Amino acid sequence: MPPARTRVVQPARRLRGELRLPGDKSITHRAFLLGAIGAGDSRFRRPGLGADTQATAGVVAALGVAHAVHGDELVVRGRGFSGLREPSDVLWGGNSGTTVRLVGGILAGRPFHSFITGDDSLRDRPMARVVEPLRAMGAHICARADGTRAPMAFAPANLHGACLRSPVASAQVKSAVLLAALQAEGPTSLEQPAPSRDHTERLLRAQGAAVRSHDATVSCAPNGPLAPLDLDIPGDFSSAAVWIAAAVVHPDAQIVLRDVGLNPLRTGLLDVLRAMGADLSVEVERHEPEPAGTIVARSSSLRAADAGGDLIPRLIDEAPLAALLASHADGESRLSDAADLAAKESNRLRTTSAALAALGVEVDEQPDGFVTAGGQRAGGGRVDAAGDHRIAMLAAAAALSGDGPVTIDGAAIAAVSYPGFWDDLAVLSE
Ligand code: S3P
Repeated sequence: MPPARTRVVQPARRLRGELRLPGDKSITHRAFLLGAIGAGDSRFRRPGLGADTQATAGVVAALGVAHAVHGDELVVRGRGFSGLREPSDVLWGGNSGTTVRLVGGILAGRPFHSFITGDDSLRDRPMARVVEPLRAMGAHICARADGTRAPMAFAPANLHGACLRSPVASAQVKSAVLLAALQAEGPTSLEQPAPSRDHTERLLRAQGAAVRSHDATVSCAPNGPLAPLDLDIPGDFSSAAVWIAAAVVHPDAQIVLRDVGLNPLRTGLLDVLRAMGADLSVEVERHEPEPAGTIVARSSSLRAADAGGDLIPRLIDEAPLAALLASHADGESRLSDAADLAAKESNRLRTTSAALAALGVEVDEQPDGFVTAGGQRAGGGRVDAAGDHRIAMLAAAAALSGDGPVTIDGAAIAAVSYPGFWDDLAVLSE
């Protein structure tokens, strides 16, 4: 984990500027993993090399797959599933749930032993959601706390296809199942309560895999070698969302964000912002395999809006920012059906309301979301990032339109998903 540096963010008189964000974190994890199981060299332009994706890079290297970064290009020298080798030590997932859960889908079907763990936060996060479906496909997995927490151990297994249903709408669970399904005998299907981000499906299809999606159900059959990938990775919408939120709540702001990923299963916050009447323009400039384009966000006067149901997986990582937006709106906003926020890098139901409370902004924590009164403005104060990159960036966004300096303890954690975040903040704020 990066050192717990403290940062002080001053209110900005104006927010102006244009940015190109680091590559999407979710897609970069998949670049390493799907590149590794591809047959030959995969090439990716503009990967996002934050601490989380570096953890995935380390795991892939320990499985015997080389990669190299030349300028802004990442090359992953794929070996196919059968070319992966038994790691000689425990694999390290760091702070990254995506790493551990997706890698679990690969390890479950390999003919060798492997072990994976991570930092304090990761070892506290629920793993039964991947352990159970993988076991139902024949995987031999042992995990701490009765199969619910990392470290996890994988023994050799012959997987078989299965018809599965998951209680959570989770792209990590879905991706783990798809990665196992590619190694199984017979077809697999997985039904989830709502559609979740579909980067794995899009990229596997580009590799020639037989992956089908219908509503919130995916199915996959094993197939021959997977083709290598060649992809321009778009900027991370979740990183863009910090600046979008900062701009719309600020009285004098215009921020242009270029080449941002606009996968509709990631951009639920744009739907909420439109319902709130935010002054935004969004232009999709490319479509396949991942949509991307330009977003311009300007100072806005916001009205209250509710969010829940199928919208939640489409904005799950932006929920803390939704609470900040709500605090600036005209009226009371409710975010519901988001109990899974408690299972993120921190309990984001608690840490979002605690971070904003430390700045004098009241957010009423609910078991499955927040209720937030509008018309509030952050004051200065001291916020604990709680070991969570999204909370560190939430505090910074709130500070820019607040009325006093905000000290953020543990601010360096932002580098988990957004290396260069503090430099970009300096570029935008005047
Ligand atoms: C991710 C899926 C989401 C998200 C996480 C990244 C992914 O998690 O919160 O930041 O890359 O698949 P869940 O699958 O647990 O919802």
